[in-house]
Amino acid sequence: MCVPPVVCPIEALDPDLAQRELFKQMPTLELDVTFPLRNFLTEISPNDAMFDNSAHYVNVGLSALRVLEYAIARQLIAPSGPQRILDLPCGHGRCGRVLRSRFPQAELTVCDIDRDGVDFCASRLNATGVYSSRDFDKLDLQCSYELIWVSSLITHLNSRYTVKFIKRMEGRLSEEGLLVLSNHGQFAVDRIVAEEYLYGLNTTSLECLVEQYNLLGYGYVDYDGVEGYGVSLISRHWLEGLFSDGQCMIADYLEHELDNHHDVIFVKKRAVVNVSTPDPSDALV
Ligand SMILES: C[S@@+](CC[C@H](N)C(=O)[O-])C[C@H]1O[C@@H](n2cnc3c(N)ncnc32)[C@H](O)[C@@H]1O
Repeated sequence: MCVPPVVCPIEALDPDLAQRELFKQMPTLELDVTFPLRNFLTEISPNDAMFDNSAHYVNVGLSALRVLEYAIARQLIAPSGPQRILDLPCGHGRCGRVLRSRFPQAELTVCDIDRDGVDFCASRLNATGVYSSRDFDKLDLQCSYELIWVSSLITHLNSRYTVKFIKRMEGRLSEEGLLVLSNHGQFAVDRIVAEEYLYGLNTTSLECLVEQYNLLGYGYVDYDGVEGYGVSLISRHWLEGLFSDGQCMIADYLEHELDNHHDVIFVKKRAVVNVSTPDPSDALV
């Protein structure tokens, strides 16, 4: 009798081998000779949901770099560079690898709810990893940061979570620090209205999203079947209102800048004006 060969899944033979096989299938990033950064991580995690192709992935990084250089030129970041950086959400390091190469001396903290992303970034980018939580009050961040980089997070949150998150980040910003947030602004709205890009949403959700945006300046809908995570559209006006008082203010705002798509908001601590009590002896007689 002929016994058919037993076909074992590769994981059963050697889980590490399975992982290595997966890594072999992942491309490494192709960098042009003009690529400006040194010691840039080219490895892509097999679990990187943001990876589509090398050229676009690298371009997003270059666009993040332009935002950072702009902030330095505008003295929103000290020319010596930030000492402590927080990349939240880090994903699998699409922007974190730029932060690491551009500021090699900085202490980098990477944070995401995706633990695999945190582990990947921490191990490859010489960074401290922090696992995030759905509840931003439970975020375990111990120190303050000179640069907090937030690409593509509030783009997925409802207004309540966005406000909570921003307040939490304000509390983690050093006195001279810079908080950088990316946002779906008017450009994203125009793309939806022109039916150029639909953000993975159906027609009903898109209509609801744009209607809320037009009425309130903040539109949000959940992704299909997901509660509390979806797509937001936030007007510049709404954000200006949010930062109109309180400890931080919008220092600069660039429209559809990151990846030629997201608006970028630069947030700084408001300067504390010291109003000292006048000395009565100074009074003119
Ligand atoms: C569109 S990706 C952007 C990732 C990265 N910033 C980039 O540009 O490649 C959104 C990320 O937000 C993360 N995320 C969602 N909710 C989060 C939370 N409560 N805390 C931290 N990260 C969260 C997701 O896991 C995902 O990695």
